Amino acid sequence: MIALEFTTFLGRFHPVLVHLPIGFLVMAVLLEWFERLRRTETKSGLIPVAWLLGGISAAAAALCGWYLGETGLYEEDVLFVHRWLGIALVVLSFIGWWIKRNPKNYSPYIQNGYSILVLGMLFYEGHQGGTMTHGDTYLTEYAPESLKGILGVKKDTDSLPRFGNPDSVLVYKDLVSPIFESKCFACHNNEVQRGGLNMASPDSLLEGSQGDPIIVNGNAEDSELFKRITLSQRNIKFMPPTENPLTYDEIKIVEWWIDTGASFDANVSAIDVSENMKPVLLRRYALDVEPKPWYETVQLAKLDSTRITELRQNGFTVKVLGATNPLLDVSYSGNDLTKAQLQKLEEVKEHITWLSLAETNVTDDWLAIVSKFPNLTRLELEKTGISDQGVALLPKLQHLEALNLYGTNVTDACMGDIEKIASLKRVYLWGTEVSPQIAESVRENNEGLEIILGER
Ligand code: HEC
Repeated sequence: MIALEFTTFLGRFHPVLVHLPIGFLVMAVLLEWFERLRRTETKSGLIPVAWLLGGISAAAAALCGWYLGETGLYEEDVLFVHRWLGIALVVLSFIGWWIKRNPKNYSPYIQNGYSILVLGMLFYEGHQGGTMTHGDTYLTEYAPESLKGILGVKKDTDSLPRFGNPDSVLVYKDLVSPIFESKCFACHNNEVQRGGLNMASPDSLLEGSQGDPIIVNGNAEDSELFKRITLSQRNIKFMPPTENPLTYDEIKIVEWWIDTGASFDANVSAIDVSENMKPVLLRRYALDVEPKPWYETVQLAKLDSTRITELRQNGFTVKVLGATNPLLDVSYSGNDLTKAQLQKLEEVKEHITWLSLAETNVTDDWLAIVSKFPNLTRLELEKTGISDQGVALLPKLQHLEALNLYGTNVTDACMGDIEKIASLKRVYLWGTEVSPQIAESVRENNEGLEIILGER
């Protein structure tokens, strides 16, 4: 333990010591260039001395750096490059010293090339070291907005996916795992398991650290994983230990996932989205979990205005639902409807979402045309001659939500077909032969279906 503490103590000197080789080596190169510019005949003895001091101090920094790296606080792959580049710099500094003791033996090209190589590596190494401790946005974080654009600094949410439909978004795989991947996997994966923890797969997450679970299903506050990301950042146990803490939204998502049971296969619609999660999902992924009526989710191009004019010339009243919604609300009134007119509607069948043929002479077999309208959500057939045969054609409509059959010739026999329209929420059967008993039993079997029968 004493030995371990001592090396940790040594390791902490790394950030101080690294400045020495930088100073010496930069000075060595500048001195040399200065002399070449002045064309001094006798070369200063200081140049090889600066290279030597650079080498010695680089070796000391590398030694401390080695121990600092052993603490496990740094991301493995970045650490690997940083560590071996540092050692290469030590070697290169001593070779530099060797060359500069007898510079006349080497052409100026080789010497300049060598200096530039060392300075380049030194700069890269220093920058990488800074990034490891301060995070890769450290330099640009406070840059003026205009400069950020030039430097290509990205906003946190820029690279996040945009989800449309909560049914197809998996809470763990699509929302939680990417957070772990960007902020935790570097030190907790199949190869490197800091603290004995592998976060790369559901199984290894469940296993926790050497058999100690880090997730308590349904209780974020008691979960070691959640505690670690919500500690004070100054706490030595705070995760991630390097400077790339989880954002507020990320913490909320992890918390929500654990609190709702830490499922690995549930989608967003299957678990409870609390009120305070809704804005997070909307802000971060443009994911709207409020259920929307079908006609708001349909994506269609706007209909050509000549098409609409044509429908109007055929006697239909046509309204476009909204400036951003190209679907149509179509109705007809009168007793002179023909099959040919309905076929005109069929030409734009995707666009029709509300259709009223109330009080027209529409017949049962013409409904075969209407049943082909894929986005129809509301159909009004009240006070027409429609009977059970006509209703039998309607289960083809997969998004029909409201159906008005008030005052038609339908009977109890139509109820089987009504039940087959899975999307149906409301059916008006007032003033028909449908009996209250049958209506009641259908109601009981179909939760969410409202049957409006009224008084007879
Ligand atoms: C730079 C490396 C590094 C990163 C990145 C990192 N960890 Fe760790 N983690 C460690 C080290 C080292 C330990 C062991 C020391 C300790 O327990 O604090 C550890 C331990 C843990 C433990 C405790 C395991 C136990 O013993 O019960 C948890 C939980 C944990 N990390 C979660 C996370 C989470 C969550 C993230 C991402 C937000 C993360 N870590 C990111 C290095 C890292």
